[in-house]
Amino acid sequence: MSNQVTRVTDAAASATAQAAPVRAGAGQASVTATDRTTTAELRQALPLVTVRDLRVAYDDKPETKPVLDGVDLELFPGEMVALLGASGSGKSTLMKSLTGFAPVSGGSVRIAGHDVTNLARGELRTLRSDVGQVFQQFQLIPRLSVLTNVLTGALHGAGPINLVGGFSSAHRQRALSLLDRVGIAHKAKDPARSLSGGQQQRVAIARALMQQPRVILADEPVASLDPKLADSVLGLLRRIATEDGIPVLVSLHVLPLALAHSDRIVGLRHGEMLVSARTTDLDAAKLSVLYDEEDDDVDHHA
Ligand SMILES: Nc1ncnc2c1ncn2[C@@H]1O[C@H](COP(=O)(O)OP(=O)(O)OP(=O)(O)O)[C@@H](O)[C@H]1O
Ligand SMILES: [Mg+2]
Repeated sequence: MSNQVTRVTDAAASATAQAAPVRAGAGQASVTATDRTTTAELRQALPLVTVRDLRVAYDDKPETKPVLDGVDLELFPGEMVALLGASGSGKSTLMKSLTGFAPVSGGSVRIAGHDVTNLARGELRTLRSDVGQVFQQFQLIPRLSVLTNVLTGALHGAGPINLVGGFSSAHRQRALSLLDRVGIAHKAKDPARSLSGGQQQRVAIARALMQQPRVILADEPVASLDPKLADSVLGLLRRIATEDGIPVLVSLHVLPLALAHSDRIVGLRHGEMLVSARTTDLDAAKLSVLYDEEDDDVDHHA
């Protein structure tokens, strides 16, 4: 990290983070939480995700800079946390490291009671069923009905997928009520491919909820949607975080969306966590530390 870069941290959060290494460069600025009540309430709960000094390297050559280096992160029940950073800064890799898909070479990762760097035999499946995931391209099975796509969420952790065996009526009821919750119960029988992008992402969210996740990770879930649909899908994710008391980590490229739809923002630059603060303490100018001028192939302010 360049020492000229300002690190933006939430002072209250840093103070309670156990053994969080302080690696501030010269010129570090601290943004003090203004909403101390909310911060205190959040801190009373135990984090469902704790990442400490995480290092991820895709090759082990000493001269290669790790993709993630010294990353700390905590996610608390009920909060929506936006993950920002330029393309290649390590957002997807951080999400993958939470579900055991990234080559972690240092530090620790705990999520929903699982020690990701030290899993027991067979625990990976439970871990992945505890973590609901939502992706940019929805990843539905296009020819199957909306209802069946949601039902596949129940197969997480259940071994090899068998769509022929059928689902219990309790599962069907639950899938239908989730479709109702995300506002598309009327599409239950339609093939997934016939839905609009915004509707497909709602199906994907219902599918993630079908797993009864303890944490939701959404990697650029609105990058393929127009601004209005992006707002509504992020609004839905935030409602789920609040109502179900689960943390939602959502990576985004558009700053106004992050500022409008999150309780907290964390930001990576070149694999280091430079920003971690309450959203109310941030603005686009403070977040500009995350982006090099030459990163401007994406319009973050759109
Ligand atoms: N499987 C892999 N093997 C080698 N390098 C990888 C692999 N996956 C990611 N990387 C590298 O890790 C870095 C971070 O990639 P990552 O996909 O996490 O970035 P990102 O912030 O999600 O970017 P984007 O905004 O474009 O999705 C990049 O330099 C990328 O080339
Ligand atoms: Mg990515």
